Amino acid sequence: MPDMEEEQLLLGDGGELSAYQIFTRLVLPLIQPTCRGCHGGRPGDLGPPFMASAHPDRYDPYPTMRNWRNFTPDIPEQSLLLTRGPHEGPALDLDQTAAVLRWLRQEKVERDLLIPPPTRPQTRPMVPRADGSLNIIQLSQIDRKLEGAFIQFTAQVSAAMRVINLRDLRIVNRLPGALPDDQRTIRIARPIAIVWNDGRARPDVGDSLGHIDRNIKLNEDDRPPPQGAGGPGILLTPLLTLPNYNAGDALSFAFNIVTVVGQVAAPDTCRPMGLQVFGTQVKEFLGKMNACSRAGCHDATARVGGLNFVPLRDHTGTNYDSLAELCEQVKYYRKNRVLEGNMNPMPPPGNTHRFRWGPYVYQGVSYNGCRDNGFPDGCFSTYVSRLEAWAAVDP
Ligand code: HEC
Repeated sequence: MPDMEEEQLLLGDGGELSAYQIFTRLVLPLIQPTCRGCHGGRPGDLGPPFMASAHPDRYDPYPTMRNWRNFTPDIPEQSLLLTRGPHEGPALDLDQTAAVLRWLRQEKVERDLLIPPPTRPQTRPMVPRADGSLNIIQLSQIDRKLEGAFIQFTAQVSAAMRVINLRDLRIVNRLPGALPDDQRTIRIARPIAIVWNDGRARPDVGDSLGHIDRNIKLNEDDRPPPQGAGGPGILLTPLLTLPNYNAGDALSFAFNIVTVVGQVAAPDTCRPMGLQVFGTQVKEFLGKMNACSRAGCHDATARVGGLNFVPLRDHTGTNYDSLAELCEQVKYYRKNRVLEGNMNPMPPPGNTHRFRWGPYVYQGVSYNGCRDNGFPDGCFSTYVSRLEAWAAVDP
């Protein structure tokens, strides 16, 4: 429980009050005169002792009341303290009710903050450098898909005040090896800083970043002043002061949500340019009526090899989003060269694929994949150059 020094500090900071502070500063002065007479836990008191002091040397009923049955439920309005109403004692008046509600709502907030991982994604506790150099916390600790995105801040510790100040706290969304047209938007909602001392997690009870819920595009930076904050990534706050911090304590960040949204630039996902080449140049071959979607092969019914080329065959327009999944599937076969070998009129040893760009024989009957699809002879080399064009923009 916070001591006086910490209390002054939180109030002086102008931040939100903790549940304990709301209780001692607002609730207790209001209800003590009307309720303690019967509920103070002294010999002869008429009612149950829910306002009994938890300390022998000073009057502090906070732990007793917080832990009293049905007093601090998840829905504050259902607290027995509020619903008891008039009995041998009076019901709470309006001021008392308002103060109690504010206290119970903050109790709920603080309980929520303490829900440990893995319920809530959280970075590993790390001891921040407080010498003015940058602290970087990689978000890939939480999810591999967030690789390259990180939290950045500088820190300054005041031993006397037992606080740590995090300055210029930012989320930076970068992706090593990304190409200019790669996309990877991440979403961050309600980040919570947590101070660890003596192995105990002390979340930022002010929930200072609780209002944050935003998407950050790959390489998105704040605009430079005067229009914006300037600097790499997106500024979450210029200053976050966390109490209860002793030099050497660790720090972690938990989130309600930290995730990748939209298209993910993973090795197998088709990049936007690749998807376009797939939907145009590769489509001209694989989408031909007498090629892959031909009955009994890669259509919706047969799905030989798991592949259905009908959507590619039927695609029109310049929005290729609906082809993204097929593109990713086919890219796999492009990269292991099956896409080339399977249609080479000079089949690689052991390759028994039925269809070829050029002359081929299937079950004793002669075909020519080029001519059957209206291409000139030798169309296989054009096909290969299309695959190479695709690979160039979408390795
Ligand atoms: C004159 C004595 C008296 C006063 C003053 C009094 N109470 Fe009570 N209270 C009782 C008695 C006796 C009971 C136990 C019987 C009952 O539940 O009605 C009780 C029970 C309760 C309970 C139920 C506790 C439980 O665990 O079941 C609540 C809640 C409560 N009081 C709230 C209050 C509040 C809030 C005030 C001040 C606004 C208050 N009381 C003032 C006598 C009093």
